[in-house]
Amino acid sequence: MSDYTGSVELRKVVPDDLEILYRIQTDPKANDLAKVYAREQSDFYAHWTKILESPEVIMRAIAYDGQTVGNINSFPIEGKTYVGYWIERAFWGKGIATRAVQMLLKIDTTRPMYAIVATKNIGSCLVLEKNGFVKIGESDSPGTDRFAPCREAHYRLSSIEKPS
Ligand SMILES: CC(C)(COP(=O)(O)OP(=O)(O)OC[C@H]1O[C@@H](n2cnc3c(N)ncnc32)[C@H](O)[C@@H]1OP(=O)(O)O)[C@@H](O)C(=O)NCCC(=O)NCCS
Repeated sequence: MSDYTGSVELRKVVPDDLEILYRIQTDPKANDLAKVYAREQSDFYAHWTKILESPEVIMRAIAYDGQTVGNINSFPIEGKTYVGYWIERAFWGKGIATRAVQMLLKIDTTRPMYAIVATKNIGSCLVLEKNGFVKIGESDSPGTDRFAPCREAHYRLSSIEKPS
C-alpha cells in the first residue's frame, strides 16, 4: 500500500455524525461510482434509526485525523455477512477505506464475509483486494429502487485468504 499519512479510526456513530453522513451520501459523483441512488432526507434518517438499533448490523463512523469522513458497516443478507463503506469525496485516495476495512475485519470476525461492487468502481475493488477479498464472480444487476443497473463483482473473504 502507499505510504499514507493521517490517522484513521472507527468509532461508534453519534447523533452529530448523521448530518455529515447524510450530506456525503448525496454526492452525485459518489453515487455514480457506487451505482446507488441517494436517500431523501426522511428516508435517510428512518433507515439510519433502524440500522443503528439493529443488533445484526455493525456500523461505525470513520474518522480521519479525528474528523468524521465516512462510515463502514457489516450487515446480513440471506444468511451471509456483507461489508459496505462510504468516504467523503474530498478524502478519497488517502487509503482511508482500505484501513477502515482492515479495522472492521478485526471487529467483525465473521468469515466468509462478502461484498458486492460495481465492476467500474475500481477503487472499491482495490480496497477489497488489498484486504484479502477474492473476486468469485460477476453478474448483471437489473437495478432496484436503491441501486442503478450495472455489472457487479462479487467478492468473498474466507478465513484462509490473507491480505496482500
Ligand atoms: C470507493 C471508495 C470507498 C474508496 O475509498 P478511498 O478511501 O479513496 O480508498 P483508498 O484510498 O483506500 O484506495 C484503495 C486503492 O484504490 C485506489 N483508488 C481509489 N479510488 C480509485 C479510483 N477511482 N480509480 C482507481 N484507483 C482508485 C487507491 O489509489 C488505492 O490504491 P493504492 O493504495 O495502491 O494507492 C470511495 O471512492 C467512496 O466512498 N466512493 C463512494 C461510495 C462507494 O463507492 N462505496 C463502495 C460501494 S461498494
